[in-house]
Amino acid sequence: MLITDALIIKQEEIIPGFHRITLSAGEAAKNARPGQFLHVRCADTLDPLLRRPISIHAVDREKGEVSLFYRVVGRGTALLADREKGDRVNVLGPLGKGFTMPEGNGGVAVVAGGIGIAPLYFFLQELSVIKICANVFLGAATKKQLFFSGGIEALGHNVFPATDDGTAGYYGNVVELFAQNLSDSVYGCGPAGMLRSLCQTIKKYNIRGEVSLEERMGCGVGACLSCACKTVDEEGNYRYSRVCAEGPVFTAGEVVWE
Ligand SMILES: Cc1cc2nc3c(=O)[nH]c(=O)nc-3n(C[C@H](O)[C@H](O)[C@H](O)COP(=O)(O)OP(=O)(O)OC[C@H]3O[C@@H](n4cnc5c(N)ncnc54)[C@H](O)[C@@H]3O)c2cc1C
Ligand code: FES
Repeated sequence: MLITDALIIKQEEIIPGFHRITLSAGEAAKNARPGQFLHVRCADTLDPLLRRPISIHAVDREKGEVSLFYRVVGRGTALLADREKGDRVNVLGPLGKGFTMPEGNGGVAVVAGGIGIAPLYFFLQELSVIKICANVFLGAATKKQLFFSGGIEALGHNVFPATDDGTAGYYGNVVELFAQNLSDSVYGCGPAGMLRSLCQTIKKYNIRGEVSLEERMGCGVGACLSCACKTVDEEGNYRYSRVCAEGPVFTAGEVVWE
């Protein structure tokens, strides 16, 4: 497990409230797997005390750079957004269990809701390295929140947008759009309601699926149990799993939605 004082190479506001920060973090870039996250100390002070978990969004292994894409929702992310090029940010990681890279020729789909594209973009980068083209269902409240569709197409994937207000692509829910274009395996990240309905679709059509979950975190390394979520194994035994250690990526069948 690695702690780094990473130099900020770039801090971009993609649209108001949504930032991408690029860090020089060679070891993290070398070791990162799609779906893993960094536990970020958002300020140099003791307040806020806890680190904030943010998914690894993109990696440039040659340059030794890692990008995070995040929405400003509270104090920690606001402080992170105030950091400038040339500052240093203390990060712990890469942490957690990421997505399983697909093998073989089956069709692969990615379903992202809003900021949920954050970890899936890195997954799509890695898919294009192994020459797998995915159908990417990109859902958002409105057109301007359909993030990185050009970049995803440039990686060689097909983008199918959906917006809640009908300003671009399919008028409605991104999971509905995916259900009309099923694939052999699917990888999802987004708001809990969206993931719940994606898991129901996966079960209904008996396809392979993985989803990345979010829970509030303390330690980020499996010690404090603050991130527990209910899961069930293949034998039907229920347990509590730590999102930071056994996740954040789980198979769709493991997650118990209550
Ligand atoms: C594994 C993992 C990966 C994540 N990746 C990203 C990412 O790539 N980009 C991104 O923008 N966000 C991501 N998040 C969510 C991010 O960690 C929270 O938005 C952040 O911790 C909020 O900190 P804050 O101090 O700004 O807000 P706070 O003041 O702590 O909270 C503000 C609001 O956000 C809610 N909130 C805080 N933490 C979480 C959480 N972990 N899950 C759900 N709601 C939360 C609170 O309930 C509250 O309503 C991820 C979370 C996890 C667990
Ligand atoms: S955050 Fe401490 S166990 Fe997961």
